Amino acid sequence: MTRILGIETSCDETAAAVIQRDDSGRGHILSNIVLSQLEDHAPYGGVVPEIAARAHVNHLDRLVAQAMAEAGLSFAELDGVAATAGPGLLGGVIVGLTMAKAIAMAHGLPLMAVNHLEGHALTARLLEDVDFPYLLLLISGGHTQFQIVEGVGRYHRLGTTIDDALGEAFDKVAKLLGLGYPGGPQVEVQARRGDPRRFDFPRPLKGRKDCNFSFSGLKTAVREVVNGLGALSDQDVADVAASFEAAVAETMADRLTMAVHLFRAAHPGVERPALIVAGGVAANQKLKAVFAQAAGRFGLALIVPPPKLCTDNAAMIAWAGAERLALGLTDDVSVAARARWPLDQSQAPVYGSGKLGAKA
Ligand code: KG4
Ligand code: ZN
Repeated sequence: MTRILGIETSCDETAAAVIQRDDSGRGHILSNIVLSQLEDHAPYGGVVPEIAARAHVNHLDRLVAQAMAEAGLSFAELDGVAATAGPGLLGGVIVGLTMAKAIAMAHGLPLMAVNHLEGHALTARLLEDVDFPYLLLLISGGHTQFQIVEGVGRYHRLGTTIDDALGEAFDKVAKLLGLGYPGGPQVEVQARRGDPRRFDFPRPLKGRKDCNFSFSGLKTAVREVVNGLGALSDQDVADVAASFEAAVAETMADRLTMAVHLFRAAHPGVERPALIVAGGVAANQKLKAVFAQAAGRFGLALIVPPPKLCTDNAAMIAWAGAERLALGLTDDVSVAARARWPLDQSQAPVYGSGKLGAKA
């Protein structure tokens, strides 16, 4: 049995958690504390890196102490410390990683420098018995990608966004509609009372034989419609939101079909592979229905972790640390924080001309 402290500071959540991994590989969350900086960034309509880094500095000590107290453990009773070492906003990553290094050095504990995306990728195994390989769809404010998770530290990226992340597209559409930040949940609420057929928005990359994503053209199409409408009525807002959501849903269904084909071709022997959907956008009910339908059609075991573990948190970092420690994958205190750190390092980056999300 190992007990690991995890620290996450790569974007606008300061988080600390303690998890336990039994020798059988079962996971238990002993504490999981997340402090959102939403209010600090809301006036700017997005995450401001310098504000984020300072907020992490101000709160991390207290959150770590709280996570340890809730777990009922002293540092000496831990088996290791894990922190996000990238990708993310560098100032924030340095804050969390440095704290983890200090704790590891002071108490003689192994250090695990965790890739944030690996945290998302392995979360399902903290909750359930999920065997490798499985298909991961990560949809957040910073990332939109399909990965085949072949093992701890073994990832094969099938597709990624060539411009905006999906959560970022939701946030930008919300901004165009005069809704608050983060916009995804509000677009979803508006969409419920709108007409998804009123505007015929593009379905980006639909039918393409890869499984990459693109959302900047869709966002531009929404902007043109909104500008054309002038002063928006409540019904206009709802109809644009519903039509946007419908375009996203149809696009995701198409991209998922491609990803499943690619997964099956790579692993023909896996009878009922798991499809794990992680990231804040996984909370969207309409998209969840799309994933459930695809899972039924293609014989996949769909797992969408609960929102608290789907969005950024430190339990997933602690868990990834525990999985790494079990394989002897520890890091030296000289390990550096990284702003960019692709999970699958064998794949060339796919960058279009669009702006990338904070954590892309
Ligand atoms: O995973 P997350 O909490 O943080 C990042 O790592 O980015 O994801 C946040 C993103 C935001 O862009 C937010 O608008 C989006 O997830 N989101 C949603 C919904 N809830 C959150 N998008 C669509 N529908 C939702 N219900
Ligand atoms: Zn994340």
